[in-house]
Amino acid sequence: MQNPDASTVLRPVKVWDLPTRVFHWSIVLLVFTSWLTNKLNRMDLHFLSGYALMGLLIFRLIWGVLGSETSRFGSFLQSPGKAVRHLRHLFIREPDREIGHNAAGGWMVLGLLTLLVVQVGTGLCSNDDILVEGPLAKYVGKDMSDKIGTIHAINFQLIELAVLAHICAVLAYAVFKGQNLVRPMITGIKRLPIAARSPNIASPILAALAIASATILATLAATRL
Ligand code: HEM
Ligand code: HEM
Repeated sequence: MQNPDASTVLRPVKVWDLPTRVFHWSIVLLVFTSWLTNKLNRMDLHFLSGYALMGLLIFRLIWGVLGSETSRFGSFLQSPGKAVRHLRHLFIREPDREIGHNAAGGWMVLGLLTLLVVQVGTGLCSNDDILVEGPLAKYVGKDMSDKIGTIHAINFQLIELAVLAHICAVLAYAVFKGQNLVRPMITGIKRLPIAARSPNIASPILAALAIASATILATLAATRL
């Protein structure tokens, strides 16, 4: 009988926990909603969408420290050298061996999260010269609020570019490497070589506590600032 090569025998491994997956598809929805509500000049809904995104980002920052192994910043942020070495293999067709974000993807995740934090932070200090201003605009003064509003607009263009790059990267993995990264972001499960270990997944109770803390903080920001 032939011995199958351990790298070609695959087994299902849970790599993304439910909170991280819900976080991801919720931010996709809310970035779109934030853009749309501004286009429609529904600034009441724009603020609401911004605060919801704030809550999600607070949750993700907590989860990046206390959450499941694959969501922790400490586990997916690797040296820039490793990221470059990883990208050298982009055009090589091979099975997915990554338990979480790969070395290059980790930096993209950090970039996307940072841009979103800046977008919410600057939104709080912006004004539209007519009717609305973020709750912190009165503290920074009109001139500074105008400048921060410009940053809010420029940063959104950076978000558009980063999201485009992000989607191109996901497509590149599908086309060049034959790896479907989207399905695991929906189901949580990757098919990995049989020798791959299962990452630690944080308890749902911890997730509930993190979600509750983030919701309370974002609600306080929305109602008390
Ligand atoms: C507004 C649009 C989007 C934003 C802001 C965004 C942001 C992010 C972030 C922050 C992560 C890291 C997840 C985490 O660890 O918390 C991520 C991962 C991921 N996103 Fe998106 N995303 C967007 C749209 C999309 C779309 C449209 C797709 C599908 C085509 C997609 C596919 C993925 C996949 C597959 C991963 C996991 C990558 C990996 O395996 O390392 N994203 N995204
Ligand atoms: C609580 C959070 C937020 C607040 C309080 C807020 C507030 C504002 C305000 C007051 C403006 C008007 C500024 C102007 O017309 O120059 C604005 C514009 C805008 N906001 Fe937000 N925002 C928030 C979050 C977001 C988020 C999360 C996004 C997208 C991811 C976003 C995207 C935009 C865009 C695209 C504009 C139009 C910029 C332009 O081209 O003039 N905002 N926001």
